[in-house]
Amino acid sequence: MLVEGPVELRLADGSTVVSDRFQVAVCACRRSRTWPFCDTSHRRRR
Ligand code: FES
Repeated sequence: MLVEGPVELRLADGSTVVSDRFQVAVCACRRSRTWPFCDTSHRRRR
């Protein structure tokens, strides 16, 4: 999911993650190794 940055994401555990990029890819599939940001792992087939 692409969102306009900068963003501050609040995670379920109460912590926050910040990205000051102008556009941020947020992972919606939970496969990312850099979660909560997308690392394109959603493209891999099993
Ligand atoms: S949306 Fe999860 S890795 Fe891209």
